[in-house]
Amino acid sequence: MHAVTAAEPGGPEVLTLTELPDPEPAPGEVLLDVAATAVNRADLLQRQGHYPPPPGSSGVIGLECSGTVAALGEGVEGLAVGDEVCALLAGGGYATRVAVPAGQVMPVPDGVDLVTAAALPEVACTVWSNVFMIANLRAEETLLVHGGAGGIGTFAIQLAHALGSRVLTTAGSPEKLQVCRDLGADVTINYSEQDFVEVVREVTDGRGVDLVLDNMGASYLGRNVEALATEGRLVVIGLQGGARGELDLGMLLRKRGAVVATALRSRPVAEKTAICASVVEHVWPLVADGTVKPIVHVRLPLAQAGEAHRVVEASESVGKVLLTTAP
Ligand SMILES: NC(=O)c1ccc[n+]([C@@H]2O[C@H](COP(=O)([O-])OP(=O)(O)OC[C@H]3O[C@@H](n4cnc5c(N)ncnc54)[C@H](OP(=O)(O)O)[C@@H]3O)[C@@H](O)[C@H]2O)c1
Repeated sequence: MHAVTAAEPGGPEVLTLTELPDPEPAPGEVLLDVAATAVNRADLLQRQGHYPPPPGSSGVIGLECSGTVAALGEGVEGLAVGDEVCALLAGGGYATRVAVPAGQVMPVPDGVDLVTAAALPEVACTVWSNVFMIANLRAEETLLVHGGAGGIGTFAIQLAHALGSRVLTTAGSPEKLQVCRDLGADVTINYSEQDFVEVVREVTDGRGVDLVLDNMGASYLGRNVEALATEGRLVVIGLQGGARGELDLGMLLRKRGAVVATALRSRPVAEKTAICASVVEHVWPLVADGTVKPIVHVRLPLAQAGEAHRVVEASESVGKVLLTTAP
């Protein structure tokens, strides 16, 4: 197969297309012919040598893909060679072939083309598992999504809006804020000009938000807790602003609040299987009827993985950046 590899940790230029042996599907796994993969921020860290793959998973970068089933490992049921699918991966997506546990394989939602389906597994599984399965956002509640124009943000805004919540979001430019409004955000906040805590207070009559989906980590920790309503939940999924911060536990306990942090990649296969099944049941119907759309910034060929990383690193993208195996 062809795969993108990095001879050494470094900038986007270290990524090159090389030939590697095809992966073999282990019992319970499926071999996929990859149609497309998508870039995640974790991929940038892995390229720099800061985010090694979990034990037992491929050393090739890539946490999601779409493609066609090429072979079934021993004991796999419910899938057939030739099925068009998308999949949540622990690694290996930047390649023309990848092996993945069958439980992490999902059908392509109706109405979505095979390449575009590569934009869905990470955002759908991350947003659904954190905002709905873990933090239990309810229709009458208010959600603050940081980074609303990113891959995660564009999906979170649409899904929470579709399920009846009021959505506040932050982004870094007027153009990106407009995208967020077009996707259903009720209140948009320019993080480079406005203090989001002040805006939250203003638009919630001092009550705060019920849930924050946070990509920043340390740099927003204190202000995120300030922005919470009584019984509010802060869910940290990204550490773009650092990993070590200071938490005012007094404020948290007065609010009877909760802080949760999760990483999807290192969760056991059984948990990822349960998340994928729940996504297919609850989220795919909303994608199939067009209520929630995959947002794709650009499609580039796999050989241009370096350029794709540059675009994401520079925050030039709105939604997802895809890498396709067809030239
Ligand atoms: N824990 C998990 O399982 C998991 C899974 C998937 C993703 N993630 C994490 O979730 C985060 C978002 O992922 P993604 O795929 O959406 O990445 P992305 O498309 O690259 O988006 C990154 C976002 O960060 C925003 N941002 C930068 N500085 C900000 C600030 N000071 N305040 C608020 N937002 C700011 C950017 O906003 P502008 O573009 O408007 O500047 C952009 O929307 C990343 O940190 C990623 O690692 C975690």
